[in-house]
Amino acid sequence: MAEIETDRLLLRRWRDSDRGPFARMNADPAVMEYFPALLSRAESDYLVDQIEAHFERQGFGAWAAELRATGAFIGFIGLAVPRFEAPFTPCVEIGWRIDAACWGRGLATEGAHAVVRHAFDVIGLNEIVSFTVPANTRSRRVMEKLGMTHDPSDDFDHPHLVPGHPMRRHVLYRLRRDW
Ligand SMILES: CC(C)(COP(=O)(O)OP(=O)(O)OC[C@H]1O[C@@H](n2cnc3c(N)ncnc32)[C@H](O)[C@@H]1OP(=O)(O)O)[C@@H](O)C(=O)NCCC(=O)NCCS
Repeated sequence: MAEIETDRLLLRRWRDSDRGPFARMNADPAVMEYFPALLSRAESDYLVDQIEAHFERQGFGAWAAELRATGAFIGFIGLAVPRFEAPFTPCVEIGWRIDAACWGRGLATEGAHAVVRHAFDVIGLNEIVSFTVPANTRSRRVMEKLGMTHDPSDDFDHPHLVPGHPMRRHVLYRLRRDW
């Protein structure tokens, strides 16, 4: 299962030593602003277990992102097959979560560009999608910088959130392989 290298990042499988820093990120209200809840240590660890199980099942997943210069774990950038049903599923989603101390340096975009190439050239996908709440402009900027496009007719209510939940409405972005 391939590791992915960029100028500044190593995207790799998860290590036990990532669990502490990942749990701190998942307990940070800035990182989790556009998610329904902060995660406890146990919930964060369970998410790592699910990500690693996804790698075993699919051969790809949400890679742990490490700064090559220091070896520090700074979050994840990668791919996932959503388990819910929606008009655009089955699909492969690209997503990212980066430690707030590292925001605004182009790291998510740099890693995501490499993941897009991996998705199309190595895995052979024809399309990837990404979604978030409309207010998550940081994440939407990353989608736009990847060349993803948003058609408002694709917007959807997230099936895991109850009707009336303020984060239920989502925007969907798509990117098709054009080579
Ligand atoms: C989304 C996220 C991964 C971006 O990481 P990052 O490494 O800072 O991303 P980049 O530096 O590549 O790009 C961020 C872009 O958002 C812009 N941005 C930052 N703060 C912003 C704000 N308040 N409003 C609008 N745009 C903003 C940056 O300027 C940059 O765009 P630009 O290059 O056009 O200037 C990071 O903010 C994060 O982890 N957020 C919390 C988790 C999350 O919401 N994940 C996505 C769930 S769908």
